[in-house]
Amino acid sequence: MRRSIVAANWKLNGSLEMAKSLVTAIDAHSNGLAGVDAVICPPFPYLSYVGGLMSAGNMCLGAQSVADQQSGAFTGEVSAEMVAEMGCRYAIVGHSERREYYGETDAIVAAKFLRIQTAGLIPILCVGESLEQREQGMMQDTIVRQVSAVVTEAGIANMKNAVLAYEPIWAIGTGKTASPEQAQEVHAIIRSEITKHSADVAEGLRILYGGSVKANNAAELFSQPDIDGGLIGGASLDAEQFNAIVAAGSSK
Ligand code: PGA
Repeated sequence: MRRSIVAANWKLNGSLEMAKSLVTAIDAHSNGLAGVDAVICPPFPYLSYVGGLMSAGNMCLGAQSVADQQSGAFTGEVSAEMVAEMGCRYAIVGHSERREYYGETDAIVAAKFLRIQTAGLIPILCVGESLEQREQGMMQDTIVRQVSAVVTEAGIANMKNAVLAYEPIWAIGTGKTASPEQAQEVHAIIRSEITKHSADVAEGLRILYGGSVKANNAAELFSQPDIDGGLIGGASLDAEQFNAIVAAGSSK
């Protein structure tokens, strides 16, 4: 039985005031909910503050990104060790917004993945196809390429300490959720790709779905056999929405 994860990706949103009311409400709700971890990934400046607002044993802190370098003359970058020191347990890597707007290639994503693990954190590795790739019949190739780029670099044993997130680009922030069947199909592709290397690792791997998950579609998505929770953008900025999604993760 895989334990569900519902992770909040605040992206470039928030303020101290918002963090306080949102995280306090999520913490109170998550406390005592069985079978689910709620991970909050705020912007870097709020990490320490948000961590201080968490008291529930199933609440964790995560970073939205880290540098591909450990230290040195890299102005504006933040290392995996630094966010670990701030209390993070997870770090998102390979989000399509980072790939698209910040030029993060498969090689950069793999390097960041390794940095995250070296710092003792659990990477949440995001993969997903564009609408064009899906329409051209390239969905499977794209997903397999993105997963393989990391597995080849990190080695299959290190996938034990990782979480995957399938996020179709056409579903992110668009209100167009993948249907539970569409999502399940891709989650099964990812799990079978990992199975080729190790059935044991594949069985234990948590694969989250992301892309317009809301309170009203989470339970149906999470009821699919290979969907182990969600990575939530827009709906994670609303306590009522996010709490309902965490509850759906708990009752999976
Ligand atoms: P969304 O974002 O829930 O707003 O679609 C998901 C994500 O980008 O992680």
